Amino acid sequence: MKTLAIIAQKGGSSKTTLAVHLAVCAVQKGMAVAILDIDPQGSAHKWFKARESSPYLAAVQGQAEALSNLLKKAKQGGVDLAIIDTAPHSDKAAAIAAKLADFVLIPTRPARFDLETVAATLAVVALTRTPAAVVISAAPRGKLASDAQHVLRGQGFPVFDVIVSNRVAFSHAVIDGRSVHEYEPGGKAAMEIDELFKVISDRLDI
Ligand SMILES: Nc1ncnc2c1ncn2[C@@H]1O[C@H](COP(=O)(O)OP(=O)(O)OP(=O)(O)O)[C@@H](O)[C@H]1O
Ligand SMILES: [Mg+2]
Repeated sequence: MKTLAIIAQKGGSSKTTLAVHLAVCAVQKGMAVAILDIDPQGSAHKWFKARESSPYLAAVQGQAEALSNLLKKAKQGGVDLAIIDTAPHSDKAAAIAAKLADFVLIPTRPARFDLETVAATLAVVALTRTPAAVVISAAPRGKLASDAQHVLRGQGFPVFDVIVSNRVAFSHAVIDGRSVHEYEPGGKAAMEIDELFKVISDRLDI
């Protein structure tokens, strides 16, 4: 079993959106997936409860302190990929998740106040020595996203080439517990998630 943690100190950076979409993407590639939601808001867990049940996707909500046990149970239950969705503004929970993960994804919107928080997130993750990369997410049309990549790389931060655009499909799909793969199969949003999943899979060696 491999574990991906999605961490960002900034609220609304699309952690949950990416967690649920990457989860469905992995299921569609034949993996058994568990979402471990350690955000007290429980958005990923609520999304899961709105879905039709499937033997290949599970979600549980818990506290960061329970993560180690939840991961053990997931492994025993035959899960191939565990995806941890975290709350913003919690260094402690973020550090626990990063330490238990094989790879950390740090989403950020390509806007000044968001980009300024990436260094703080990476500093928490760096202490755990778990490999990590930033992805620009919810990017509007235009050059903001590539400019943001340039700025972050200039600070020496690892940044994926893949960009997840701001697309209404992401908001529409989750209303009734779907993903863009189910809402608009083969659409641009699904293709971007596929690309992101591919680069993460390479890093996780799955
Ligand atoms: N690529 C995207 N395109 C359009 N809307 C998006 C995209 N990504 C996220 N959003 C929207 O932005 C809002 C915040 O996203 P999300 O809840 O995933 O962020 P979060 O980082 O999990 O927030 P929190 O820190 O509160 O947990 C949601 O309304 C979501 O639908
Ligand atoms: Mg969230």
